[in-house]
Amino acid sequence: MKLWAGRFTKDTKKEMDDFHSSISFDMRLYRQDILGSIAHSEALLKCGIITQEEYTKIREGLEGILGDIEKGTIHFDDGLEDIHMNIEKLLTDRIGETGKKLHTARSRNDQVAADLKMYLREMIEDLELSIAGLLKTLADLAEQNLGTIMPGYTHLQHAQPVTLAHHLMAYFEMFKRDMGRLKDCRQRMDESPLGSCALAGTTYPLDRGLTASLLGFNGFTSNSLDSVSDRDYAVEFLAASSVIMMHLSRFCEELILWSSSEFGFVEMDDAYSTGSSIMPQKKNPDAAELIRGKVGRVYGNLIGLLTVMKGLPLAYNKDMQEDKESVFDTVDTLKGCLSVFVPMLATLKFNNTAMYKAVSSGFTNATDVADYLAKKGVPFRTAHRMVGELVQSCIQRGLSLDELSLADYKKVSPVFEEDILDAIKPENCVKARNTPGGPAPQQVKKHIEKSRGFLAEILKNE
Ligand code: ARG
Repeated sequence: MKLWAGRFTKDTKKEMDDFHSSISFDMRLYRQDILGSIAHSEALLKCGIITQEEYTKIREGLEGILGDIEKGTIHFDDGLEDIHMNIEKLLTDRIGETGKKLHTARSRNDQVAADLKMYLREMIEDLELSIAGLLKTLADLAEQNLGTIMPGYTHLQHAQPVTLAHHLMAYFEMFKRDMGRLKDCRQRMDESPLGSCALAGTTYPLDRGLTASLLGFNGFTSNSLDSVSDRDYAVEFLAASSVIMMHLSRFCEELILWSSSEFGFVEMDDAYSTGSSIMPQKKNPDAAELIRGKVGRVYGNLIGLLTVMKGLPLAYNKDMQEDKESVFDTVDTLKGCLSVFVPMLATLKFNNTAMYKAVSSGFTNATDVADYLAKKGVPFRTAHRMVGELVQSCIQRGLSLDELSLADYKKVSPVFEEDILDAIKPENCVKARNTPGGPAPQQVKKHIEKSRGFLAEILKNE
């Protein structure tokens, strides 16, 4: 018999039960649901709805159920719809009539919102730790590669020399912002909806502050309608997750390119690569490809939930039950991706020679030739034109800029002197880009030091 069956004259069809039941996925919220119920029963005790004895019975009953679920001895009933009603029914089966008092001054609408917020808070904390691990790996790798010269690209064409450290620290900044977005969303969702009940609060003098603080919320929500119809926190989590996945995917795309024979900048460890069932020579960057591929489902989850929410009148609507699979799938995907990505990154073998060779082709030092002229008083636009012509003649002669003689340079402009050849060595091009945030080892070193401070601060607060 359904817990809400009083006003019905017949049972729901099996197809309907199967269709609207969410227990197969919201059973994930069992712990939050039970902790929420224990806190709620304390509020019921405080406002005199249950006695001390009843409170103890409820609390012990719920703790017993929690223990049994964790032992794996509980079978959830599809017919009972969701985790909330399953647990309530288990409780009444175990402790009798007293169990039926638990749902006073509460609705599944505020209950599910509280459960999902608690769940997300925990998951976000886990993810923040994983991202901190990723940031540390990036800083470590960068520190080892302050002087590893590689081409920087625009339009995937050779642009100017940078260092591997500089490139890696670009990702540091991206994932650092991701961390900020997660934290921001975690802090904004930190208000308890309990006490909002179905939509219009309750007639009982429930202490909302008590349940909020028992459950570790920073406070409670200010409008009961909003409390039960808000899923912004889930949307924000999915949005922050989408950006993380976008960043992971860009990084994976680069690693896939870099590990191709054409680039040969990097070799992935065997532990994160796979072979081919037909081509014996193959070593494929499957882990990186799969992470790149999994972005689709996370974006899909975000767009899915935004679409679910877009036409909903206040307050609760059953459509909102669709939030959970999007959130759970995103949590699993993100955790899975990070658990493979971080060690894959840490075990990469970089081919410094291949990177240096790539810098030396493709005229990555052309801007430096123009800068050389500009520093000697030639207007930059004129210098740009002259160097463009030099590059054109190099292309025709099959030479690179450092293979030209001083005489070749002088033909273009008399201001060139012996030191031009030194000025366009990749190491010097990098060293000369010494503005804050630039690739000069001195600057990147400063950035890494600052970043270490940031990481220490974060890990201290965990
Ligand atoms: N399983 C439901 C959900 O996830 C719980 C809330 C149900 N509330 C209701 N009035 N039907 O959204």
